[in-house]
Amino acid sequence: MQTLCEMAVDVLTTADGREKTRKSRAYAAAYFAAREAGTPLPLGRAEPPLRPSRPEKPELLDPRDVPKRKPGSEKGRIALLHAVAHIELNAVDLHWDIIPRFADTAMPQGFYDDWVKSADEESKHFNLMCDCLEELGSHYGALPAHAGMWRAAEDTVDDLMGRLAVVPMVLEARGLDVTPGMIALFKKAKADSAVAALETIYGEEVGHVAYGSKWFHFLCGRHDHDPKETFHALVKKYFHGPLKPPFNEEKRAEAGLPPDFYWPLTD
Ligand SMILES: [Fe+2]
Ligand SMILES: [Fe+2]
Repeated sequence: MQTLCEMAVDVLTTADGREKTRKSRAYAAAYFAAREAGTPLPLGRAEPPLRPSRPEKPELLDPRDVPKRKPGSEKGRIALLHAVAHIELNAVDLHWDIIPRFADTAMPQGFYDDWVKSADEESKHFNLMCDCLEELGSHYGALPAHAGMWRAAEDTVDDLMGRLAVVPMVLEARGLDVTPGMIALFKKAKADSAVAALETIYGEEVGHVAYGSKWFHFLCGRHDHDPKETFHALVKKYFHGPLKPPFNEEKRAEAGLPPDFYWPLTD
C-alpha cells in the first residue's frame, strides 16, 4: 500500500497537467475512503522534489515578459483563463508538497484531511479551466505563463508556519480579492461555463484560506507565539513586496483573516 507521502510525491513528479490532476483526485478519493473506513493511510515519508514536474508547455516567462491582453476581447478572456489554469496547477502541487515536506512536524490528522481536500479541489479547478479553454478552441500550454510561482514554496521549504502564512493566507487570499471582478467580466461576455467554473473556484477557495489560518493559529498556540505579530514577521521575511488592496474583507473574515493581519502589510 502507498503511504500518503508517496502519493504526494507521485503527483509532484507527474508532468502532464491532466495526468497530475487525475492522480491527485484518485489519491484523494483513496485517502478519504480509508479515513471513512477507520483505517487512515499511513503518513510515511518520501522526499518531495525541490520543484514539481511540469509539462513542456506552457513556456514559463518572467512576469514582466508575459504579454498583456485586453480583458474585453475573447483573446483576453482566453489569456485570463489560461493564467487561472496555471495558478490552479501550481496550487495542486503546493497542497501536495506541504504533506511530505513537513512530515516530520507532528500534526493532527485533520491537517492532512484539509490539504488532501484542497489538492482535490485545485485539481477540479484546473480541469474546469482546461475545459473552458478547450471550449474556446485553446488549451493549457497554448500561451506563455508566469515563471516563479513556485518561489513561495522554495522560500519556505523549511518553515511550515512561513509556508502557511505566505501560501494560503497571502496568495490564496489574494484570489478571494480578484475573483469577483473576473466573474463579472465573464458574465458581461455571457460566457456561462466560465462563470460557473469561477463561481465553483471562488466558493472553494474560502476553505483553503480558512485551513491556512486554522493551522497557522494552531501552531502559534503550540509555540506560544502571538498570531498577528508572527504573521507580520513571516510575511515580511518570505513575501516579496507589500500586499495590495482592495481586499475582499468579507470573504477574508469568513476565512479567519481579520483586517489587522493584512492592512499593516500594505504600503
Ligand atoms: Fe483553486
Ligand atoms: Fe486554493
